[in-house]
Amino acid sequence: MRVTGDQVSHEAAAAYVRESDHDEWVIEERLVGEEFTVQAFVADGEVRPTPAVQDHKRAYEGDEGPNTGGMGSYSDAGPTLPFMTQAEYHDAVDVLEAVVDALPEYTGVLYGQFMLTAEGPKVVEFNARFGDPEAMNVLPVMETPLLDFVVAARAGEPLPEPRFDNRATVCKYAVPAGYPTDPDSGAEIAVDESTVDAAAAAHDGDALLFYASVDARDGGLFTTTSRSFAVVGVADDIRTAEAIASEALAAAGDGLRVREDIGTEELVNSRVDHMASLRD
Ligand code: GLY
Repeated sequence: MRVTGDQVSHEAAAAYVRESDHDEWVIEERLVGEEFTVQAFVADGEVRPTPAVQDHKRAYEGDEGPNTGGMGSYSDAGPTLPFMTQAEYHDAVDVLEAVVDALPEYTGVLYGQFMLTAEGPKVVEFNARFGDPEAMNVLPVMETPLLDFVVAARAGEPLPEPRFDNRATVCKYAVPAGYPTDPDSGAEIAVDESTVDAAAAAHDGDALLFYASVDARDGGLFTTTSRSFAVVGVADDIRTAEAIASEALAAAGDGLRVREDIGTEELVNSRVDHMASLRD
């Protein structure tokens, strides 16, 4: 049984525990703030962090609906996010470094997910892999070849310092109708790749298309039960990257759904306002 909610007082929670039949309880701190991800290359006790990313787990606009594998994400033209200070980013990296100090034999990508609270970043979870969609934000703006990290780690040599081109990214997934609770799998879809290129050209940026869970058969492309494909806009600022991603999604045709609000000025500003209100 899981007990959560704004209105659960300490007294009510204590009474609930006293009256229950269970012998053991896990009580978690409720974290209020903005979630973000920092991924890092790790080998031989060294940590090479990449820019922070904000993923959007909820299915519908305005962070409504059930959790998904991630409907899209954005990163800014630099290591931080608009609602985050440089110091807070470095605090998150310090946490990754502390984990690696405790696990000096770990080699690979370390994914740290944090909640930025009024008291600074707090850990939500770690993964021993890239994030999906967060990898699609950081790898396209990384100038250092990915292979350099792999080769250095394998040879036991120092990891390179990653260089990034300081552009912003917005990633949006196109998903089957009904995803995630009742996805319309097996529906034929059409993806117009020329629309993706045109979106990039119109805004003097880049647009990338990543196929995800689709079934190519019988000369067509069909949905499965998971996310179908993602587009990533890359530009000098989040607003332009969002415009590219949004226009590129015209490639999606009928039968797919996207979260239009990811990376929009309105949504990003609401994150900034949220953190400002928590810090007051
Ligand atoms: N974006 C969440 C994850 O990759 O676990």
